[in-house]
Amino acid sequence: MSKIIEKEEVAPNIHRVVFDAPKIARKVKPGQFVIVIPDEFGERTPFTVADWDSERGTITIFFLEVGVSTMKLAKMGPGDCVHTLVGPLGKPTKIEKFGTVVLGGGCYGLGAIYPLARAFKEAGNKVIVVTEGRTRYVLFNLKRLQEVADEMIITTSDGSLGIKGHAHDAVRMLVERGEKIDHVHFVGCTYMMMTGSKTTKELNIPIVVSLAALMVDGTGMCGCCRVIVGGETKFACVDGPDFDGHLVDWEIVAARAGAYVPEENLAYQFYKMREDDTSHAKCECQEEVQ
Ligand code: FES
Repeated sequence: MSKIIEKEEVAPNIHRVVFDAPKIARKVKPGQFVIVIPDEFGERTPFTVADWDSERGTITIFFLEVGVSTMKLAKMGPGDCVHTLVGPLGKPTKIEKFGTVVLGGGCYGLGAIYPLARAFKEAGNKVIVVTEGRTRYVLFNLKRLQEVADEMIITTSDGSLGIKGHAHDAVRMLVERGEKIDHVHFVGCTYMMMTGSKTTKELNIPIVVSLAALMVDGTGMCGCCRVIVGGETKFACVDGPDFDGHLVDWEIVAARAGAYVPEENLAYQFYKMREDDTSHAKCECQEEVQ
C-alpha cells in the first residue's frame, strides 16, 4: 500500500496525486508509468509518471476520472492509501539531441509531457510545447511547461485560449512559418495522437506516441495491452508505451480502447450511487518496485 501525500483537482474531472514512493522516485525515468489499484476490489490502471522528487521520495500522476477505479482514486485525499502502487514500468522514452523537438500534450498528457520537456531540454534540444484542450478550463500545468519550453503554443477547440484548433494544427503552423522540426512526441487521447501521426506523416516528420492501452499486469504476461505496430503485435506495457506513430494501427487502438465502455459506464453509475463507499484503507504503506 502507498500513501497519498497531496491531491488536488487541477481542472474539472482531472486530478493530480502525489504519492509517497521513494523507491520508484529513485528509479523512474521520463516516459515510464506506474500501475495503481485504489482498493482491494479495484482494477489495475496505468498512469504515466508526470514528475518525481528523488530526495523527497515522491512521484506525481495526473488522471481523468472516467471509470470506477479513477472515481475511487479521485475520492481519496492526503493520508489515504492505495492498495497497490507498482513501477516504474515500461521502457523509458529515448532522449537524445534531435535539434528541434515538438512535444504535444492533451488531457492527462499535459502532465505527462513535463518530464519529457525537461529531459529533451537538458539534452540540448530546442523544445516547443504544444497543448491541446476542448476549452481553456480543461488546461492545466501550463506554468510548469512554460518554465522548461523554449516556446509554448496553446490550442483550444473553441478558441477560448490560444489558437483555435488542435495540436496537429500547431505542428502544421510551425512548418508553414519555416520551423525545421526534427522530432515530435505526442501524449494524450487516442484521437489526438492519431491526428498528430497523420499530419506528421504528410509533413514527413518523425513522431513518437505514448500509447495508453488497457492493461492488467503491466509486465507482458496477459496480452491485454496488445497493439499492432508495423504489422507486428506489440505489448504496450513492455515494448512501449512509446511507438512510432506512423506505424501504429490506429483503428485497432481505438477499437480496443472502447471495448469495455458499456460495462464501464454501468459500473460507474452503480458505484456513483454508493455514497458510503469508503473502502480505501488507512495503512502501513509500502510501495512495490519493479
Ligand atoms: Fe498484460 Fe501488457 S498489460 S501484457
